[in-house]
Amino acid sequence: MEYLYAQDNLSLGQMAARWVAREILACPNLVLGLPTGSTPIGMYQHLTRLAQEGLISFAQARTFNLDEYVGLTADHPQSYAFFMREHFWSKVDLPKGNGDIPRGDVSDLAAECRRYDDAIQSVGGIEVQILGLGPNGHIGFNEPSHNMEIHTHVVDLTAETIQANTRFFPGSEAVPRQAITMGVGSIMRAQRILLLVSGESKRDILTKTLYGPVSTAVPASILQLHTDLTVLTDIKI
Ligand code: F6R
Repeated sequence: MEYLYAQDNLSLGQMAARWVAREILACPNLVLGLPTGSTPIGMYQHLTRLAQEGLISFAQARTFNLDEYVGLTADHPQSYAFFMREHFWSKVDLPKGNGDIPRGDVSDLAAECRRYDDAIQSVGGIEVQILGLGPNGHIGFNEPSHNMEIHTHVVDLTAETIQANTRFFPGSEAVPRQAITMGVGSIMRAQRILLLVSGESKRDILTKTLYGPVSTAVPASILQLHTDLTVLTDIKI
């Protein structure tokens, strides 16, 4: 495991963008797994700037998002598809159709999960996966549970996740109760993983993730078993 310390949230965004920029420069047709949430916003801002200045290009890249809420259409302002358009897809030269995300508004969710895994498989799997860390240790929406799901699946969000994500909605009642998420299989099969963690409130869960027992109670702890994990954080532990 490599541990990179950022002085604050701003420099975390810059460092994350430079890390991704190095990857895309080395491999222009990179298959990149991407998160949403508060933590990666700075990374997307800096990546956008680097792309707009012509220093990097996503013209040959493929991206796959980790997750999407069930029941929200892609143009719902709180959907993760909307987030990606706002923060990344519409700002860089990634060809339309090269950025994939599970659809949460389809009637056959099981078929959508299969479609997503097949799409990831068809390009040879995720090469570089960027992750955020949920306050309860989730990665994607792989929530604490008694088992870990390998494939893309529908998950019931925990009360803690609903509470944490209420800040993006008019109230907790408006937060969807389910999501589609990439499974830990696609995440762990990535060749390289960058875990982004920002803010003192995540100190305990980051410590459990990196140094606690590997357990389904803290899904992110499985990252201890990955052979090429970089942790980029502004928390000193
Ligand atoms: C979102 C995702 C989640 C977030 C996590 C942290 O696509 O995969 O696992 O990364 O909930 O969210 P923030 O960054 O908002 O604290």
